[in-house]
Amino acid sequence: MRVYLIGFMGSGKSTFGKKLAAKLNMPFVDTDKAIEQAQGKTIPQIFSEYGEAYFRSLEAAFIRSTTEYTSALISCGGGTPCFNDNMDWMRENGITVYLKVPEEHLFQRLRTRTAKRPLLAGMDDDALRAYIRDMLQKRSAFYDRAHQIVDPTAVKPKFVADLLRKKMEH
Ligand code: S3P
Repeated sequence: MRVYLIGFMGSGKSTFGKKLAAKLNMPFVDTDKAIEQAQGKTIPQIFSEYGEAYFRSLEAAFIRSTTEYTSALISCGGGTPCFNDNMDWMRENGITVYLKVPEEHLFQRLRTRTAKRPLLAGMDDDALRAYIRDMLQKRSAFYDRAHQIVDPTAVKPKFVADLLRKKMEH
């Protein structure tokens, strides 16, 4: 079974995701890292050299290539579910899990880590707060369609692993 982990930047898709994958005995696959490796460039370089639309096409192609895994936890980029019908595709090809983190937590987690994220580059605190609010409003329509929604600041990876195991049995 494939698990697609989705959520906003800073929601813990990597840290919580790695622990969750370990509890599920699944390899952890990071969409952004796979794209960076395949392109030999960082995400900021891909954005600045080719633009966001090109990045979104790489992302959609990578997601569709994950059928090569019979069992894996695939950690998506924050925007992955929101472009190119990726959410429909992931729902049909695996279990989708949304890490839904309170807005204030996202702000605290992201304020020191804008450099690696081209969409947040150069934002001050006010701009970052406004951006998170606005993007969450737009992206929730996609994120909320996940099979399972969990708050990683409130539950442990083992709890989510048990939930997903039950889902997979049915
Ligand atoms: C993006 C999130 C990033 C990365 C890219 C775009 C987004 O991934 O895919 O910078 O649109 O929210 P993380 O959510 O892992 O930071």
